[in-house]
Amino acid sequence: MQYRSFTKDNLQVSALGFGCMRFPCLTSGKPDRRESVRMIHYAIENGVNYFDTAYPYHDGISEEIVGKALAGKRREKVLLATKFPTWEATSQNKLDKILNEQLTKLQTDHVDMYMLHCLQKSLMPNVEKYNLIGWLEKKRKQGKIRYIGFSFHDELSLFKEIVDMYKWDFCQIQYNYVGEEVQAGTAGLQYAASHGLSVIIMEPLLGGALAKPNGKLTDIWAKSKYNPVDLALRWLWNKPEVGIVLSGMSSMEQVADNIAYADKAKVNSLTKTEQAFIAKAQNTYQKMMPVRCTKCKYCIPCPFGVDIPTNFALYNDAVAAPAAKTLGHNLYVMMSTESRANNCKVCGACEKKCPQHLPISKRLKDAAKLLG
Ligand SMILES: NC(=O)c1ccc[n+]([C@@H]2O[C@H](COP(=O)([O-])OP(=O)(O)OC[C@H]3O[C@@H](n4cnc5c(N)ncnc54)[C@H](OP(=O)(O)O)[C@@H]3O)[C@@H](O)[C@H]2O)c1
Repeated sequence: MQYRSFTKDNLQVSALGFGCMRFPCLTSGKPDRRESVRMIHYAIENGVNYFDTAYPYHDGISEEIVGKALAGKRREKVLLATKFPTWEATSQNKLDKILNEQLTKLQTDHVDMYMLHCLQKSLMPNVEKYNLIGWLEKKRKQGKIRYIGFSFHDELSLFKEIVDMYKWDFCQIQYNYVGEEVQAGTAGLQYAASHGLSVIIMEPLLGGALAKPNGKLTDIWAKSKYNPVDLALRWLWNKPEVGIVLSGMSSMEQVADNIAYADKAKVNSLTKTEQAFIAKAQNTYQKMMPVRCTKCKYCIPCPFGVDIPTNFALYNDAVAAPAAKTLGHNLYVMMSTESRANNCKVCGACEKKCPQHLPISKRLKDAAKLLG
């Protein structure tokens, strides 16, 4: 495992961080606790020392799983990250109540890296109204948290404002080779690093989409000697500004593979040929995908039951790979009537919650037209 310096204290963190938002699930849809714990233990045994969870992941069960997996001596070996759900700030009492609940679930007396979760324009009033930064500093003095950061889903201009408003230790941004200009993007990465923040990357495979190239990309990758996951992750690790790359892994095989990729993850190690190949894949991909949905599921539940991420996954595949259109149609008609895209009532509830700020209603209409 490669390690990188993190924060002003030069903590040594593994280049690969374990994102605890995509544990394997049982047919009930609930995470498979036993297998998830096994995956975390394997990751620790193989050098991963950074674990990222959050209050809402897996409906609150992720923090419980992480707590169980780290209970005892393992907790001392790792850096544990979780986040305050910024949208839940409705009273001063609630702030302490949530952090205490998180510490109980995580079976620890402190969180190493604590973030304001999902900072975006609509949530900024909460930061001021409840003096969240003052509260975080108080918790740090009490020893309940060690380092203060934020995770981000909005435009570059707001990102820079947030970086400038406080002496953060670190930040977490969505970033991958098809999203250089999405949200904070490359400019944000460099801005944060040049202002002394350590940077954590989330959604490095665009929620898994970059692991499964389709359409024209299938050929491009198949004819190459590259593995799409390896190269997508190494494209990130190649950058000196990148600290940890979080990967949400949903099987033991993925954990083992990603650890192997991280073993050779050095800064400035991509060859010119690899860089040129990524540029070609990036270009092709961007032309193909009509909806940049990352399947984070923040948009659901829809008040009318539309399964937004599934509709977009089918739509993206159907557009990007014409061969997948019939399959997409077959899967679409197998969905329940209420969960199909054509059940969208254009209420807009989902668009307020989408970290990507996608015009969901409009795109659902397009999806319904193509798949129906
Ligand atoms: N703070 C926030 O607002 C926020 C938002 C999003 C994420 N996060 C954090 O960032 C972490 C990383 O983001 P992410 O989970 O979206 O990461 P990601 O790497 O973009 O996507 C994860 C998915 O990639 C696929 N994958 C991973 N490794 C693979 C491999 N070796 N081979 C094939 N497929 C592979 C899996 O898809 P399949 O399951 O389809 O196989 C997996 O579920 C999250 O887990 C979470 O901790 C934070």
